Amino acid sequence: MSQQLSSALLRTCARQQLPTTVVARSAIAASTANAQQQRGVANASKFESPFASSDDPTATLKIPNFKKYMSKSSPTTNKVFSYFVAGTMGLGSAVGAKATVQDFLVNMSASADVLAQAKVEIALGSIPEGKNVIIKWRGKPVFIRHRTADEIKEANEIDWKTLRDPQPDEDRVQKPEWLVMLGVCTHLGCVPIGEAGDFGGWFCPCHGSHYDISGRIRKGPAPLNLEVPAYQFPDDDTLVIG
Ligand code: FES
Repeated sequence: MSQQLSSALLRTCARQQLPTTVVARSAIAASTANAQQQRGVANASKFESPFASSDDPTATLKIPNFKKYMSKSSPTTNKVFSYFVAGTMGLGSAVGAKATVQDFLVNMSASADVLAQAKVEIALGSIPEGKNVIIKWRGKPVFIRHRTADEIKEANEIDWKTLRDPQPDEDRVQKPEWLVMLGVCTHLGCVPIGEAGDFGGWFCPCHGSHYDISGRIRKGPAPLNLEVPAYQFPDDDTLVIG
């Protein structure tokens, strides 16, 4: 009796569960089909990466495919284009660098008026013997004395070692008859007067300094001889100072 009751109950349960299982299977099948359909749509619009694995499932080395990025032109055309671009950029850079350096040098170099004052040329034929000439060079007076034979002799007779600023006459001139000096007193910068003073040379009235016929300090507060600038004689009749 109880066995029959159990069987009946099992059959009833089986009868009641059968439609549920079928419906569930149908729903699963529909869901799977739907998912497969969606996956198919996704696959259709998927981006093909160049880093995708190769078709060979056993391959371990994966090489990206860059074919779609490669130029369609020939290698020669590509080289010509590359050389042209590199050459043009190099040329542009060189022109820019040249202009920059040139502007810098032009800025740093002396102006025309400064260059004009850098050197002064004097025609010596216009200065008679025994006379002084004063010219302006770099904003300073320059004394040029055409000395006589007696003046040269006087300048050399002095015992120069006893002077305040010991210097022989021969060290102060390139040609004995031409004495060239800056006309600036070595005391405080006044301009001495020529053919004056106790020694027949120059006299500075500011504080009473006396210079001899070689421009050496002999008396007064000035500590040094008159300065000799750089000069040269390009020929017998020309003096260039500077
Ligand atoms: S400046 Fe010439 S003696 Fe003083």
